[in-house]
Amino acid sequence: MIKVGINGYGTIGRRVADAVRLQKDMSIIGIVKTKPDYVAVEAARMFNVYASDNETLHTFESSGIKAKGTLNDLVQSVDVMVDCTPEGMGEKNKELYKKSNIKAIFQGGEEAKIAEQSFNAYSSYDKSVGKQFLRVVSCNTTGLARTIYPIMKKFGVNSVDATLIRRATDPNDSKKGPINAVEPSLKFPSHHGPDLKTVLDVKDVGTVAIKVPTTLMHVHSISLKTDSEVSKDKLIEEWSKFNRIIPLSGKSGLSSTSQIMDLAREFGRKRGDLFEIAVWKESLFTSGNTVRYIQAVHQESDVVPENVDAIRAIMGYSDREKSITDTDNTMGIFRRDL
Ligand SMILES: NC(=O)c1ccc[n+]([C@@H]2O[C@H](COP(=O)([O-])OP(=O)(O)OC[C@H]3O[C@@H](n4cnc5c(N)ncnc54)[C@H](OP(=O)(O)O)[C@@H]3O)[C@@H](O)[C@H]2O)c1
Repeated sequence: MIKVGINGYGTIGRRVADAVRLQKDMSIIGIVKTKPDYVAVEAARMFNVYASDNETLHTFESSGIKAKGTLNDLVQSVDVMVDCTPEGMGEKNKELYKKSNIKAIFQGGEEAKIAEQSFNAYSSYDKSVGKQFLRVVSCNTTGLARTIYPIMKKFGVNSVDATLIRRATDPNDSKKGPINAVEPSLKFPSHHGPDLKTVLDVKDVGTVAIKVPTTLMHVHSISLKTDSEVSKDKLIEEWSKFNRIIPLSGKSGLSSTSQIMDLAREFGRKRGDLFEIAVWKESLFTSGNTVRYIQAVHQESDVVPENVDAIRAIMGYSDREKSITDTDNTMGIFRRDL
């Protein structure tokens, strides 16, 4: 049984904790919070809660939430820590993980150099087996790697051009924006291009990122050049072999991110999560070696199955297919075509 700790129990951390709880080969030893808020109260019903340090431990005690100790205690009893703290904090935490001689998985807000290998279950599992530090790439990069990998595997990909229309912030955040502006990233390529190369062997990647006032999902418009000719039917057939991609159609009533999020609620998923990347079939265009399509990415949850597989990879489990299948089966991710 793999003993897992979750440091940071926000948007990503609490979802990863729930997903780990479903696995037969791993268990959550504890989660770390800084604030004794409503999320901590609910977490304490399911998990051992640890405070981030002695100072926050006192605030837990005074607010009536029974904390089991601090992060320093938790690192003594886990094999691997999934670090889901806000971006930039991982570097500091890494020192503690090193000192405690445990493995750690960081998230996409950290720089790639924090880990020996960046992780996507489809495209970089094998290179990640047995490492001490991994980093699951961001929600956007995960979305790109998921749908490009099957194309690369079957047809070869030599260049990618993608426009990423990014949600402003997550639905539980009332502080960030923009709420009435469109905000392009003024650097070309945006950081997503170089990031994609950390998990996928593609030479030429150009990305542009534009933030818009929505909290539901990101939308990507992708154009790529393949090595061999591609037809629409063959491409949909390839995507359909990968459960974490859902080809769907506007004709089924799924013409915007609102309906796609509603679909996830119809699936009965906790928090209305869509772990899969939704690709609009009507948007798929192929001509010779050119492929274009539009996809939607649920930023709060697409990286969650990747974190589960990253735990198996980092612990030395080398059967990629079985890890992905076990994760998918336990999380209710199966082949869908809408
Ligand atoms: N949100 C997304 O869409 C998304 C998608 C993919 C990847 N990521 C990446 O995932 C990572 C986490 O992002 P998130 O969106 O989950 O952040 P978040 O919702 O802000 O959650 C961060 C968590 O870290 C905790 N925290 C804050 N300071 C801490 C400290 N000093 N020690 C321990 N924990 C601390 C917070 O605890 P309290 O609540 O108790 O303060 C909170 O539980 C980032 O690298 C981010 O870039 C985010």
